[in-house]
Amino acid sequence: MKFFIDTANLDQIKEAHDLGVLDGVTTNPSLMAKEGISGRDRVLQHYKDICSIVGEGDVSAEVIATDFEGMIKEGEELAALHPNIVVKVPMIKDGVKAIKYFSDKGIRTNCTLVFSAGQALLAAKAGASYVSPFIGRLDDISVDGLELIEQIRVIYDNYGYNTEILAASVRHPMHIIKCAEIGADVMTGPLSAIMALLKHPLTDSGLAQFLADHKKAAEASK
Ligand code: G3P
Repeated sequence: MKFFIDTANLDQIKEAHDLGVLDGVTTNPSLMAKEGISGRDRVLQHYKDICSIVGEGDVSAEVIATDFEGMIKEGEELAALHPNIVVKVPMIKDGVKAIKYFSDKGIRTNCTLVFSAGQALLAAKAGASYVSPFIGRLDDISVDGLELIEQIRVIYDNYGYNTEILAASVRHPMHIIKCAEIGADVMTGPLSAIMALLKHPLTDSGLAQFLADHKKAAEASK
């Protein structure tokens, strides 16, 4: 399973990349705003900065327009920034049309704000490269987000769709583990969820014991 980080924070992207496990980055307008990035030129430069940190990894950059022509104009501008840019398009009527247009032109897309299997099926039929079901936001309203990932996995496997399932709105390490069990192609989450995979109290106590025993043996042999 590919690991993407869901942030526009350059320090966090660097930290995940330095760990050696980062396959890409997803952003959205809220995450860009959180970093204080606004104005077209600054936004475009920020995407370029992210691309230069992640190297080969895909970077999702979201369109702001909600009409077909506007999405095409913005998406083409974003795609021209760097070969690893994936144009993020919302799951709305004009968005589906835009995904089909981009797919026919060889521009890769990430269909975002997906909350149902029907939406995921439409995204795949339109030729989306990635589909982003928001599992955490479904959990927030007492709907099991992981069940949606399972459903989409079955549907895509039934018909051999190439669209990659990008589990988004991941909030914690159990989301990541369950997504891996189900067979999501990618997960995107915050740095905290990725780093939490590292943690186990028995690792910490075991290491402390190993180091203490090593020190004792070294002192005894002096
Ligand atoms: O990738 C989608 C993500 O940014 C939404 O996450 O935590 O705001 O629901 P969250």
